[in-house]
Amino acid sequence: MNKVRVLSVPGDGIGPEVTVQAVAVLRHVCERAGVSLEIDEAPFGGASIDLFGVPVTEETLEKAKAADAVLLGAVGGPKWDHLPSEQRAEKGLLNLRAALEVYANLRPAKLFPALESACPLKPERARGMDFVVVRELIGGIYFGQPRGVVQVEGATHGVTKGFNTASYTDDEVRRIGKAAFEVARTRKKKLMSVDKANVLEVSALWRKVMTELGASYPDVQLSHMYVDNAAMQLILNPRQFDVIVTSNLFGDILSDEAGALTGSIGMLPSASLGDRHALYEPVHGSAPDIAGLGKANPLAAILSVAMLVHHTLKRPEWAQKIEAAVDRVLASGLRTADIASADAGGAQRIVTTSQMGAAVLEQLSS
Ligand SMILES: NC(=O)c1ccc[n+]([C@@H]2O[C@H](COP(=O)([O-])OP(=O)(O)OC[C@H]3O[C@@H](n4cnc5c(N)ncnc54)[C@H](O)[C@@H]3O)[C@@H](O)[C@H]2O)c1
Repeated sequence: MNKVRVLSVPGDGIGPEVTVQAVAVLRHVCERAGVSLEIDEAPFGGASIDLFGVPVTEETLEKAKAADAVLLGAVGGPKWDHLPSEQRAEKGLLNLRAALEVYANLRPAKLFPALESACPLKPERARGMDFVVVRELIGGIYFGQPRGVVQVEGATHGVTKGFNTASYTDDEVRRIGKAAFEVARTRKKKLMSVDKANVLEVSALWRKVMTELGASYPDVQLSHMYVDNAAMQLILNPRQFDVIVTSNLFGDILSDEAGALTGSIGMLPSASLGDRHALYEPVHGSAPDIAGLGKANPLAAILSVAMLVHHTLKRPEWAQKIEAAVDRVLASGLRTADIASADAGGAQRIVTTSQMGAAVLEQLSS
């Protein structure tokens, strides 16, 4: 891609602080890679509520749909917490994801060598850990119908039942499967499909479709694992994984477990991809406790730009350069407060959000 249109929605709290650093990296890479970047910005979340009374306007949704990629900071904060859930800042995020029809959520879990001490596992278990969870994002039990809470008929005294439906069509499994196989092709070509096919019919169909799809990707080694075992293997031997593909519910849980292994929420990027649209955002929230203090770690937002460069610009070599620059900055001892280690002593230097962003840019230029 030689021309890209990006909509930036920085949002609230530390969202704007980290997004400005991420956009600087994007501008730099586009300039160096010969890509013409058209970037627009729109109020989002609480910032949009303050201006327009809603967390996302129709105009912003249209701009997002017209862009090649949306870069999001974070939304929400105590100022808007009293609002009913339909009007809250976080609702803007759900509306945006739905409007963009992004069904594949990619959450890398990479342990940077310099942050080994921040990982809760023993270094020899986690060293070199580098995998991606591909989670189905707009189907499964979170959306399945019927759902509800009802009175159980015929019960002698009032018995109430809550229920949800876990369902996937073969088409839904196929499209997330294809997305995951494609990701695996750009990595070590190992795909682990995680399900509960020994108990759930919906998982049995999932496994059947994944297996059939595997025939079209003979270059990718496909394996299957039950979700309970996967949760255990992530702790026992996370290095065995390259790409994990799984349903909405299982992916929600496993991607957070995987994220915890990387040391800090300030290091976690994400991409949500659909057939026509793409949304890139750090996993963390608006962190009201540190907003405005220059303490936010911008690396999750910067690594989200690396994902944009990889998946939307299709320039994996430049995505790697961004990751390598982050690696070198960390190796040089620079740390935002969230990733500083109490026992590192003089080997590390605590820096602000903008100093960390500037250090990544400097490494990219060298
Ligand atoms: N995608 C999103 O926009 C998103 C995600 C989660 C929460 N939220 C919203 O954010 C607000 C705060 O939620 P929360 O406190 O539960 O989660 P949070 O992720 O904002 O913060 C959790 C903790 O991690 C720290 N932290 C988060 N990001 C950091 C960074 N980049 N650098 C350094 N430290 C960082 C915070 O200081 C805080 O101590 C709420 O309104 C919530 O609804 C938004």
